[in-house]
Amino acid sequence: MDMMELVRTRRSVRTFDGQPLKAEDESKLREYMREIENPYGIPVRFVLLDAKEHGLSSPVIVGESRYVAAKVDRVPHGEEAVGYSFEKLVLYAWSTGIGTTWIGGTMKRSLFERAADVRDGEWMFCVSPLGYPAKKMSARESIMRKAIKADERKSASQLFFDRDFSTPLTAEDEKLRDALEMVRWAPSATNSQPWRILRDGSAFHFYLEHTKGYTSDAGWDMQKIDMGIALCHFMGAAGGELVLSDPGIPAGEGREYIATVKL
Ligand SMILES: Cc1cc2nc3c(=O)[nH]c(=O)nc-3n(C[C@H](O)[C@H](O)[C@H](O)COP(=O)(O)O)c2cc1C
Repeated sequence: MDMMELVRTRRSVRTFDGQPLKAEDESKLREYMREIENPYGIPVRFVLLDAKEHGLSSPVIVGESRYVAAKVDRVPHGEEAVGYSFEKLVLYAWSTGIGTTWIGGTMKRSLFERAADVRDGEWMFCVSPLGYPAKKMSARESIMRKAIKADERKSASQLFFDRDFSTPLTAEDEKLRDALEMVRWAPSATNSQPWRILRDGSAFHFYLEHTKGYTSDAGWDMQKIDMGIALCHFMGAAGGELVLSDPGIPAGEGREYIATVKL
């Protein structure tokens, strides 16, 4: 599968078939995890956890046997770095038939932090179950998907702009069109899709349009993880170089500059 196909077919998997990961699949995952990099140059450390051994579960997940947790030093842009690297793992897992769900809320955080041995000076924002999708979704999963409209996304004209935030972006070439489409279909916490992209020539500025209610008292911001995921999809399709330099374009109330990709 190419990346577009992976992005368009992936969905959160919350109902697994109860089978443990095959040894061969687990070793491929472990190998891939060790190689993942992100354009922030911030190392993200993945830990595979046995659900039974550590008593790990999530009220929305059924039939999982393993979890993966991602740890990062408490540094600026840690959230975007984890978003980028973890999403690479999510897509890789999907390419081998393994389902995942980003979990940042519906878990007993302290239990997972203990299991993953999160130290002072480290953050662990999210985990994901790992396993093979069951043939049929649980009723709870179906209801949840409907409630958060998980199969829908905002339109391109609501997300992508040219020079100012009132002019929708028209992508002339196919590569850019694909990159934007892959951002559009990225997963985000509660499917809030907070990413906005403003093109200025060959520069693509990424902004976070904050959703009300996502205040963080823990010193980090869940929606910045979504931004890392968007960057992963965009750069995976279009390439480019990541630059952190706010162009100072008036972005409006509630929009925060995150990063620029120069193509
Ligand atoms: C950072 C982040 C945190 C998330 N946290 C949770 C969670 O705690 N529980 C859950 O069931 N889904 C969680 N999700 C999954 C989203 O609800 C899901 O990606 C979105 O609804 C789109 O659906 P899809 O992944 O099937 O395309 C999270 C997603 C992201 C990116």
